[in-house]
Amino acid sequence: MSKHYFELSQLKDEAPDLFGIPTGTKLDEMFFKIEKENGGYVKKPLGGIPYLSVMNLTGIPDSGKSVLAEQFAVHQASRGYKVLFVTVESPASFLYSALKQKSEALNVDFSKVERNMVVIDASQDEELRENPKALMDTMAYAIKEKKTSITIIDSITGLYEHKEVMARQIVRQFFNFLKKFRQTGLFVSQKRSAQASESAEAAGGLAVAHIVDGTIVLDKKLIESRWDANLYNLPLGSVLRTIRIDGCRLTAHDSDTWVFEITELGVIRIISPLKDYVRGLKQKAD
Ligand SMILES: Nc1ncnc2c1ncn2[C@@H]1O[C@H](COP(=O)(O)OP(=O)(O)O)[C@@H](O)[C@H]1O
Ligand SMILES: [Mg+2]
Repeated sequence: MSKHYFELSQLKDEAPDLFGIPTGTKLDEMFFKIEKENGGYVKKPLGGIPYLSVMNLTGIPDSGKSVLAEQFAVHQASRGYKVLFVTVESPASFLYSALKQKSEALNVDFSKVERNMVVIDASQDEELRENPKALMDTMAYAIKEKKTSITIIDSITGLYEHKEVMARQIVRQFFNFLKKFRQTGLFVSQKRSAQASESAEAAGGLAVAHIVDGTIVLDKKLIESRWDANLYNLPLGSVLRTIRIDGCRLTAHDSDTWVFEITELGVIRIISPLKDYVRGLKQKAD
């Protein structure tokens, strides 16, 4: 019978190093490790999402999940790392245009991005969307053939539409799959607007958040009262976008809610913690 327990010391060689895989956004400074230095402890930014983690990127529709996922993919591919992008909602031809535009906006060499990224289009293929085994076989082939180290699924929720009772099982399968193939991963997950929008709870209950290594929540708030307009110094009808790391079991992280914007070119720019943003406005007013 195979052994089902390990001596703790046996696990040493398999334990991943703790370092960051950069997204090219300020998110990279929001994960850190705590190191002992001169008898005290110091916070050192990880410089990215934790290596070999599988993170959940969640938010209501139109909160910027795909923009962030694509920006991460472009940033990594432009640095020479191989990325597998599984597109479940947007057809691959649209993804191509988005990645090209993003590359231009980020001022990176698109030919390099093209060389380093592989795409699986599950949006046009019911078999890939409905049958996790079929999709994982295709992914395994792409990962091995192209030697990718990063895998993005946009979105994982698209793989259990109409069968939310299966959510946990499906998310768990893809999570284990990425671990097995040693991919640093991003699962985009849709949150219904009925669920408290700043929480990590997504479609399928907490299926995704409980299984993955950590969750990043994007949110957008419509400025619809005079009170909000005054508080945030934004015109009525405008949008305030926020991003927050909701938890990560692999490393320490910033726990503030940060304000960000999506520029006209479709690029995410994280500005400052919401509390400083509001305080700054208040000081200007005083
Ligand atoms: N190429 C772009 N140029 C400008 N703005 C964009 C671009 N792509 C997306 N956006 C803005 O970002 C918003 C969020 O888009 P997206 O990331 O697709 O949302 P979701 O969270 O549903 O994936 C869009 O509604 C739009 O306002
Ligand atoms: Mg999207």
